[in-house]
Amino acid sequence: MTDLSILVFVVSIAALIAVYAIRLKAVPMPSLAAARAEIIAYVPGDTKTLSDFGSGWGDLAIDIARHRPDINVTGIELSPVPYAISRMRAILAGRPNLTLIRGDFRTLDRDPGDVVVCFLDPRIMGDVGDVLGQRMRAGSIVISRAFAIPGWQAFGDVPMTSGSDHLYLYRIGRHKAA
Ligand SMILES: C[S@@+](CC[C@H](N)C(=O)[O-])C[C@H]1O[C@@H](n2cnc3c(N)ncnc32)[C@H](O)[C@@H]1O
Repeated sequence: MTDLSILVFVVSIAALIAVYAIRLKAVPMPSLAAARAEIIAYVPGDTKTLSDFGSGWGDLAIDIARHRPDINVTGIELSPVPYAISRMRAILAGRPNLTLIRGDFRTLDRDPGDVVVCFLDPRIMGDVGDVLGQRMRAGSIVISRAFAIPGWQAFGDVPMTSGSDHLYLYRIGRHKAA
């Protein structure tokens, strides 16, 4: 490979990441270890199935699957480069309870499970609320890092000790003010 072809390859990959970040209005910024530990601490003990809406490079989904082998974890990511890397990392992690899907969580026709975790962008939280309100069962839990779902009533608003973000906790069925 020549220097020029390496440069073209790197620029193409960066451009692909940027195009999807603009299209999805969300950059693939991973949750770091301390933040992941805080999120995992709020996943209820009786959870059987969990989705990470926008699983990025796989950091959070892989960590939850590792710490909670009793939970079937599904990460959903549309941006192709982070998704491809997350698939490779998942193979290396070897967790039988982890599935990664390339798709748009807004249109994917599947049950999100008992818990949804997300770390997205304020511009898309309204869409996220619409999807979750339609698809999740009463009693299931949403844990949103950093951004509240507009019009929803959180039962928990927890400042994270690992940074300045908050975790917003919602229970479906009680997520709308009476
Ligand atoms: C900030 S990253 C969070 C990654 C991971 N959840 C974590 O906490 O480490 C948000 C990811 O959501 C993805 N995303 C945004 N909108 C999406 C959509 N509609 N469908 C699938 N993925 C989406 C972005 O591509 C990005 O990788």
